[in-house]
Amino acid sequence: MTPMTVDLLLSQTYLHQLWQKHWPDKTGFVHNSASAFHQYESLFLSLCRDGRIYPLVARLQSMGPETYHHSLDVFLLGNVLADYLQMEMAELAAGFLLHDVGKTYISSYILQKSGTLTPEEWETVQEHPMRGYHLLRAHGLEDSIAHMALYHHERGNQTGYPFGLPAWELPAPLRLLSVVDVYSALTLPRSYRKALTPDQALYHLRKHTEELDAVYIHALLNILHTHEPDPGNPSS
Ligand SMILES: [Fe+2]
Ligand SMILES: [Fe+2]
Repeated sequence: MTPMTVDLLLSQTYLHQLWQKHWPDKTGFVHNSASAFHQYESLFLSLCRDGRIYPLVARLQSMGPETYHHSLDVFLLGNVLADYLQMEMAELAAGFLLHDVGKTYISSYILQKSGTLTPEEWETVQEHPMRGYHLLRAHGLEDSIAHMALYHHERGNQTGYPFGLPAWELPAPLRLLSVVDVYSALTLPRSYRKALTPDQALYHLRKHTEELDAVYIHALLNILHTHEPDPGNPSS
């Protein structure tokens, strides 16, 4: 079998498009500069030089643009947000990029299905955190990275999967990832629906603070700079 390769040029183009989508104004937010973008682009390229990570990135890219765009988007948003909050963990970047690698076991038919999933299809979807965890461990990646795949669909009110854990008890990076993951999914187009605008997606997040951490929703709002929040009320 021919080993899969990463199209780096295409990946860099996607990264740049996503960056411009989030921070189109050249003069606004502190992160909104060419040098800030290149910092994250270099981080992505350095991950691709890691022999454990490269085949997994190739695997995600082979799924087509929908899953790959989302992976790159979570990588960008997650890293910018973690930097903004001075959350320093070397393994975060790989975890953001590879959190959905378990989706590579799901057929594109299921991933792109516009109608309601059958119970069996939904079960398959709910397996992706666990399958991602095992795939990351099999590639020699640390537990802290594999946990980002395993727990990113857990929710504060225990409505998530695969375990239905109270997500408030999970480490901070995992709660941050869940916020960024939902925001990215909502603001990217899917084969079965249009993308939400940033304001629509943030409105959705702020209605779900029983599931997602309001502190990170508030911080995301700040870095996206879409409108001024009430600084005294993170969930406002
Ligand atoms: Fe996921
Ligand atoms: Fe995701």
